[in-house]
Amino acid sequence: MATAITECTPSFLAAAGLAVLAICSYLAVVLRRGGVAGAKRYPPAVGTVFHQVYHLRRLHDYYTDLFREHMTFRLLSPGRGQIYTSDPAVVEHILKTNFSNYGKGESNYENTSDLFGDGIFAVDGDKWKQQRKIASYDFSTRALRDFSGGVFNKNAAKLAHIVSDNAAAKQPMDFQALLMKATMDSIFTIAFGLDLNTLSGAAADEGSRFAAAFDDASEFILLRFVNAFWKVARFLNVGAEAALRHRIKVVDEFAYKHIRARADEMSVGKAHDAESKCDLLSRFIQATTSESGEVDYKYLRDIIMNIVIAGKDTTAGALAWFLYMMCKHPEVQEKISEEAREAADAGETASIDDFSQSLTDEALNKMHYLHAALTETLRLYPSVPLDNKECFSDDVLPNGFSVGKGDMVFYAPYAMGRMERLWGEDAQAFRPERWLDEHGVFQPESPFKFTAFQAGPRIWKGVRVQADEGLRGSAAPFLRAGSARQGRQRELQDHDHALHQAGSPSHGCGEMIVLGHIHIQIQ
Ligand code: HEM
Repeated sequence: MATAITECTPSFLAAAGLAVLAICSYLAVVLRRGGVAGAKRYPPAVGTVFHQVYHLRRLHDYYTDLFREHMTFRLLSPGRGQIYTSDPAVVEHILKTNFSNYGKGESNYENTSDLFGDGIFAVDGDKWKQQRKIASYDFSTRALRDFSGGVFNKNAAKLAHIVSDNAAAKQPMDFQALLMKATMDSIFTIAFGLDLNTLSGAAADEGSRFAAAFDDASEFILLRFVNAFWKVARFLNVGAEAALRHRIKVVDEFAYKHIRARADEMSVGKAHDAESKCDLLSRFIQATTSESGEVDYKYLRDIIMNIVIAGKDTTAGALAWFLYMMCKHPEVQEKISEEAREAADAGETASIDDFSQSLTDEALNKMHYLHAALTETLRLYPSVPLDNKECFSDDVLPNGFSVGKGDMVFYAPYAMGRMERLWGEDAQAFRPERWLDEHGVFQPESPFKFTAFQAGPRIWKGVRVQADEGLRGSAAPFLRAGSARQGRQRELQDHDHALHQAGSPSHGCGEMIVLGHIHIQIQ
């Protein structure tokens, strides 16, 4: 008997603790709402936020299971109300129709501002509008698009060389790590006009330290979303919070050093040179420097770092899943190779470099099947699997459910991509053809149904085009024409092996997403 009690005690206590917390949460929410039977209707409560901890390893599949029962539901929480939706009408309402009533809110800002500062990811209202205004002009310019297209393409060719050499030598690779380096190099060049060159391993110490500190800092920020006591740890400067402080110092020193150097370069007398620069930092310095020549370094740091945060892990994650899908679907891979051969017109025996060179915008725009395969990858494995907005004043959703001021409304690109009621019986299947019309031309879907890029006014058309082009330009060199069919097949099988070795997508999407897509989780 004594043994039985001893064995039971930890799990019994854990269960009892959870039960008490769940009851408290329920009461807190009910009391806050002024009773069970009010005039307002709330979405069904199907669990508590503590269930999320229990299901952490398969969190997004847990949500998907719940969404199969209810398009919109609540998880009871001790603090603010938490509503989850997979209903495109609700998504449209919070992201577009009633845009001004939903935003990042205070708690997101608190969690992220040590790294994000007042950058576009963390802020709402006027601060958001101002950055958006400056940046959206730049993102739609031809010069920036050409520049960033060239950068993505160059780094994709570098990566393809590394992969090809490793595959020939039968060396396993950590594919996700390689993609993270390649996208860090690309985004950093686009943002700062500097090639960190982490991919070749030849990065200067300072550059590698920055890249590693940046990745760590993103991860520590993410941890704050599941650690209710992070403020205490920050106050005491212990654990992850102490490490975060140190990493942010490394990131900031590096960023400020380059911002100051560029601002000096661009100061009176050298402005002519600066005009020819295409990177975002140079353009933002031009756009934000006052007439007296005063430069707001903190503001520039926030703007630029947010773009690095926004573009890096999203692109790397999407490419990792895309290559994983290619390993699993050789027939799709073969079709893309054929399409690439035709579109790039580079000849059967073109080298990786020649093939990359021939991937002009025009060639990429002809590659509808590649576009469809990438979009299909993002439907099933969106880089941002769950996103949220805070409600600023009491509201009623299109489905009749009430939302209170301060409540969080989550929409779920991952679960939505798997809903049969949205995509048909074969929703779970990887089928690029669903994005093509009868002439093989790519057909976009409503952004409120395919939510991988978010929707509404916070989508930047220019960025969206850049992301699309960056993805296509980065993906295509892997599937270059010219190598013998068997060689390609073997290479990709080796990639598949490497992906398994690396333990990324093959370990289940939840884990990959948690590890790989920081800005996503923290929204
Ligand atoms: C596969 C590639 C990408 C995906 C799936 C993606 C997805 C997203 C999503 C879902 C958001 C909304 C997050 C939120 O709630 O704030 C977002 C925001 C943003 N993304 Fe991307 N992104 C990608 C690539 C890029 C790239 C390459 C850049 C820039 C170089 C970029 C720049 C931004 C910016 C600036 C925002 C903030 C927009 C705002 O709040 O106004 N993204 N992205």
